[in-house]
Amino acid sequence: MQGFGREVILGVGGGIAAYKSCDLLRRLRDHGYAVTVVPTPSSLNFVGAATWEALSGRKVTTQVWESVEEVRHVSLAKESSFIIIAPATADLIARIAAGRADDLLTNVVLASDSPILIVPAMHPEMWKDPATMANVQTLRSRGYHVMDPDVGALTSGDVGQGRFPETSRILQEFASITGSHADLLGKKVLVTAGGTREAIDPVRFIGNQSSGKQGYAVARAALQRGAQVTLIAANTNLPDIEGVRTIKVESATQMLQVLESEFSQSDLLVMSAAVADARPLQIADSKIKKSDYRNIALVENPDLLRTIASTKKNQIIVGFAAETSEDLDLAREKMDAKGADILYLNDISAGDIFNSETTHGFILAKGKEPSKVSQTTKDTLAHQLLDEALLQLG
Ligand code: CTP
Repeated sequence: MQGFGREVILGVGGGIAAYKSCDLLRRLRDHGYAVTVVPTPSSLNFVGAATWEALSGRKVTTQVWESVEEVRHVSLAKESSFIIIAPATADLIARIAAGRADDLLTNVVLASDSPILIVPAMHPEMWKDPATMANVQTLRSRGYHVMDPDVGALTSGDVGQGRFPETSRILQEFASITGSHADLLGKKVLVTAGGTREAIDPVRFIGNQSSGKQGYAVARAALQRGAQVTLIAANTNLPDIEGVRTIKVESATQMLQVLESEFSQSDLLVMSAAVADARPLQIADSKIKKSDYRNIALVENPDLLRTIASTKKNQIIVGFAAETSEDLDLAREKMDAKGADILYLNDISAGDIFNSETTHGFILAKGKEPSKVSQTTKDTLAHQLLDEALLQLG
């Protein structure tokens, strides 16, 4: 099982409802899950591997005979913390109930000890058939979560119980099994995002490359998990998030002022903003001439994280470190020196982080070994950081 429980396998059976699973996959990714799709070979008649690869951002295999050297069924089973099979056909349910392992998906199911949610979809007569009913019974008695299909019109024109449930119902079921539903309900989360700008004159500033995407991803993730979220945004071009109270600032000094008034009422602070380390001693009233550039005196900005951490009571603070090396000892020193409880070490040496949708690095947490974050979306990282913060909040 992965350290932070965000790896999900989406098994797809050979039914027409396979196309509805595309929406399920997108919604899972929106909720910060990293999804590997394992379709049965027959399901590729309905939705092809290219679609799954594009939607999941990952390679798709259906047979144990592909990438044999990786022992895919075992590695997939180990790396995932949850399996959803949607849609599950009568045949697929029968094969799982019988313990068969005749394609990659059924191999993974047998090799895994993670919770498995099965979402059946089939013709009502097939669902009602005593063989299917007995197989469902067998799976439920073994601890599989098997949803009841919806009642309604089917592709065949018939009406009855067999329809693929609405995505929202599947997600609700998934959330109630994983306990991930609104686990930040009642918590106040304060997030900083973007990069501060330190004005030199009415035209120019000292700034940095931060797009704010990571901080916005944290705010979105916390909102989804039921938190009351305040976002302090510095110079981002991102659209406001409905439901998140957003306070816009420009400079480090302004950001500190807002932090000082908000922090004491928060449970969790995530400092993803890139704060300029220095600012001009004076902001010129009029545009500085070329000849005066070398006379711009700089003063150091306070370290906002450190300043705020010195006032903390029971709050948890997450910091970030953008480094051009993977020096974990240095990162841990930085975390301790600043007074953060969790730190994400972002390896920016390849230059592929700023303004990107993805990230990779290490999560450091007090009293724990660093946890490697392989290339993943900023949404997934946001949830991983919140998972760790929640553990520490208790
Ligand atoms: N940070 C801050 N105030 C500053 C600078 C940084 O609060 N003046 C916070 C950032 O929001 C981030 C963390 O500190 O969470 C990482 O900052 P980083 O720039 O990596 O560290 P520095 O303290 O600037 O150290 P370095 O000398 O390595 O640049």
